[in-house]
Amino acid sequence: MRRKMAAGNWKMNGLQDNLAELDALAQGYGDAECDILVCPPATLINQAASVSGDSIAIGGQDCHKAVTGAHTGDISAQMLKDAGATHVILGHSERREDHDESDTDVRLKARAAIEAGLKVVICMGESLEEREANNTLDIIGGQLAGSIPDQVTAENLIVAYEPIWAIGTGKVPTLDQIGEVHDFIRARLVRRYGDGVGLSTRILYGGSVKPDNAADIFGVSNVDGALVGGASLKAKDFGQIITAL
Ligand code: G3H
Repeated sequence: MRRKMAAGNWKMNGLQDNLAELDALAQGYGDAECDILVCPPATLINQAASVSGDSIAIGGQDCHKAVTGAHTGDISAQMLKDAGATHVILGHSERREDHDESDTDVRLKARAAIEAGLKVVICMGESLEEREANNTLDIIGGQLAGSIPDQVTAENLIVAYEPIWAIGTGKVPTLDQIGEVHDFIRARLVRRYGDGVGLSTRILYGGSVKPDNAADIFGVSNVDGALVGGASLKAKDFGQIITAL
């Protein structure tokens, strides 16, 4: 049985005020029957980890593939860990787009993160053009094969399916479309890693998850939770999503 997960990605939002929201989340939902992960900007990880205590895990939104070195502005996996993170989001479409990250980049980052002892949330998703050209499963298959390293376990890998066209747009795929991709990811994980890892790895859906659509999305087969952007910034909204799990 896979434990459900609600993950919040604050993206480049979140100042000191958001720590009060995190505190409210920990007070109100810290004992929920699911894993809760919040990924604030790197500058807040340390404080977020002390506000959230044991009830909410804290993650980074990216890390470098190298352990140390001359990489101005970058942060290594070990640095995230030292700051209090236990997880890191990798390969988000905004990183792939804004920073030209390839599947290989994501895979090397994931390897570095796992070696540092972090759990990785590896994101993938198709553009609208790719969906309209009926290429969704090919794109997801390629991203899965290229972005996930060989040395993963069901404990340190979480996959997030995020159609790019659904992120921050209020547009959500149909439940059948979500189910088709999640079933496909599950089958590919089983084929590559066997039943142990393949059946136990959690697959999150992300893209305009809100309190009013969460329960329906969580009812879809092989959806083990959500990666939430905008609605994770307010404890009340994120809390309602957690409750729907
Ligand atoms: O990482 C989160 C996703 O990009 C979803 O963002 O919930 O604001 O659509 P959103």
